[in-house]
Amino acid sequence: MCGIVGYIGDKPAQPIVLDCLSKLEYRGYDSCGIAVSSSGIEVYKDAVRVGALRKALPKLDGTVGIGHTRWATHGEPSQVNAHPHCDCSGKITVVHNGIISNFQLLRRQLTAEGHNLISETDTEVIPHLIEKYYDGNLEEAVETALRDVEGSYAIIVLAAGEPKLVAARKDSPLIIGIGDRENFIASDVPAILDYTNRVIYLEDGDIGVVTTGKIKIKRDGKEVSRQEDKVLWSVKDAQKGGYEHFMLKEIHEQPKVIRDTLIGWVSVAESAVDLAAMRGGIESMLILACGTSYHAALIGKYIIEELLGIPVRVEIASEFNYYGQTLAKTVAIVITQSGETADTLKAMKKLKAVGCLVLAIINVVGSSASRIADHTLYTRAGPEISVAATKSFIAQLMVLYWLVISYSEVDARRLTDLITELRQLPEKVQQVLDNEDKIKEYASYLSKYENVFFIGRGINFPVALEGALKLKEISYIHAEGYAAGELKHGPFALLGEGTPIIAVVARDSTYQAMLSSIREVKARGSTVIVLAEEGDETIGELADLVITVPKVEAIFSPIVNTVALQLLAYYTAEERGCSIDFPRNLAKSVTVE
Ligand code: F6R
Repeated sequence: MCGIVGYIGDKPAQPIVLDCLSKLEYRGYDSCGIAVSSSGIEVYKDAVRVGALRKALPKLDGTVGIGHTRWATHGEPSQVNAHPHCDCSGKITVVHNGIISNFQLLRRQLTAEGHNLISETDTEVIPHLIEKYYDGNLEEAVETALRDVEGSYAIIVLAAGEPKLVAARKDSPLIIGIGDRENFIASDVPAILDYTNRVIYLEDGDIGVVTTGKIKIKRDGKEVSRQEDKVLWSVKDAQKGGYEHFMLKEIHEQPKVIRDTLIGWVSVAESAVDLAAMRGGIESMLILACGTSYHAALIGKYIIEELLGIPVRVEIASEFNYYGQTLAKTVAIVITQSGETADTLKAMKKLKAVGCLVLAIINVVGSSASRIADHTLYTRAGPEISVAATKSFIAQLMVLYWLVISYSEVDARRLTDLITELRQLPEKVQQVLDNEDKIKEYASYLSKYENVFFIGRGINFPVALEGALKLKEISYIHAEGYAAGELKHGPFALLGEGTPIIAVVARDSTYQAMLSSIREVKARGSTVIVLAEEGDETIGELADLVITVPKVEAIFSPIVNTVALQLLAYYTAEERGCSIDFPRNLAKSVTVE
């Protein structure tokens, strides 16, 4: 969740580290800090955002620096708990992403040995351990210190008088960016895209020793070679491009994302070869994910069961890790935008341990999940910066549609119809986007409420869940997604004037039942906003407000409906003056359990 960055080169480190940090803020923004080395090491940090730190800083000399933007786990957001953390002498500084699970024991030991630890964080033990083992060789001290440490970490170490950065990772992402007489270290690619597109993805257990002109990677004390990769994302992809927020830009990118993901079919097909070989032998499937990706997984269940006839179980990764049982013959699909979600990674390891074939749908190339999976199908969403996921969700659905349609044994005519519709989805989504002003009007109405229910049935039940998640996370309105039929089993007690309902309606077998649900909630005094297909006059008569979406086959209705709900959430949050790209207490890429 936290973001870390390091720079070493012949340019002033301060502006580069701050610039990279601002691109990492989506990983956490409770506090931030920077350390720059020249004659000694200067550290500045506070419980503020990067922009405020930038303004407060004096000019720092030095061409080597590290930075951190924090999502608090151990200790409140405060200056003392902000990174970088230092040893007793202030000569060894560390930025860290992850959790040191045995920090209390280490802290007691270090304190007994005379070290002075001042923060509440788990991280602070690391610089003190390095101090304890340092006898003039920084990389060896880091290596020895990390042997004492349990848990997850991506760290960068900067020490006075050492013209190098030492980086290490275990269960937290870390990349090295290769420049021209300068090198970078960062939690992820968008941080350094302005400077280089040449990267090395560090493996768990790697220790990188990075100087201006050289990158050395060691593992178990021996030097190893790691392949250099070229990042295909462009600088523009990670910029706002004139939009007020990344979220709005990413919502508007979705027609392109659908096209790009469809164009990626060729490589998808290549990666899925083994699945094809197993077709016929698959008795059941399991899909695992968290958050928005979990909602994509739920939609995947409907698609697979309808078009392949294979029963599918969908599990929230964090629950599966403690209770889920599964058999080796199960094919598991794991869905994750970042490829770094700790719960999802843990679930993948559990699946692999029992011998399951694990197929991952991932957006971030080179992420940890891609290294655990047997096969990876990449979505082509490009970098998703907004904390609230939008385009990655639509891209995940596109991969699922493609995968399932490729293996389905529906008759030729149905297959042609499905593929034709699939190809038309970019235009259909564009039509939803063109209806933005109307949705904005309804958002202004919705923004006055504090409680909202989203209801749907069948394949649009997960859409209701996703609509509620988007609204609650960015507008702070309490929103619940419900299977429409379940509302009468309890939540009816909450209905009335103060609780509007957003009903997601599709022209499928659930249509009549949805009409009944709408009548029932209206009878209890709730205002009903309905998302319905254009030309549906019955709905027009029944609903208080209607958001129309273009006509598509019901199986694809989650695409157009979700995009409409993303816009509704976005404009509701905007009306309420919320911090849309950086909602409170959240961070993209949840790398802690
Ligand atoms: C919500 C959101 C989160 C993520 C979840 C899983 O808008 O973005 O719920 O979907 O943290 O993240 P990934 O897909 O990276 O595993």
